Amino acid sequence: MKTILATIAVLVFVATSWVSAQVVRGNPKEGQAVYEKNCLRCHGEKLDGNGPESRDLIVRPANLQSSIVRSKTDWELLVTISNGVLFSPMHGFRGKLTDQQMLDVLSYIRAVSPADIVS
Ligand code: HEC
Repeated sequence: MKTILATIAVLVFVATSWVSAQVVRGNPKEGQAVYEKNCLRCHGEKLDGNGPESRDLIVRPANLQSSIVRSKTDWELLVTISNGVLFSPMHGFRGKLTDQQMLDVLSYIRAVSPADIVS
């Protein structure tokens, strides 16, 4: 019973921190620096997926300017940045970047490539 309660407490905590992540905006200027250091080599200077290392990858980096990415919610993109994409060179950045840095980089992506939907 104790374990169940502890699990529920953790889930509530995780859920609420994600909810607040949707409200607390990142800083696109800080995010640009995070992007240049961690993402540019694959996703490219123009966020079009043509970074210097992209040619060597079997699974090509996502074009962050595409309508596919624009139509995703902040939540979906954050989960991908945090957890990565299974069986692809896109590894998770949880532990490498702070939550704030992930929010910052997301707001940089949104500044360059605005969302199609309001999330
Ligand atoms: C080693 C290369 C590499 C690096 C570095 C990298 N990515 Fe990726 N990323 C990929 C690949 C490859 C995919 C596409 C996976 C797929 O096709 O499903 C991807 C997918 C994504 C997606 C998902 C797009 C979608 O359609 O849902 C997002 C968002 C993303 N990357 C953001 C980032 C951010 C932000 C960083 C830096 C913090 C980063 N990536 C660093 C290779 C990389």
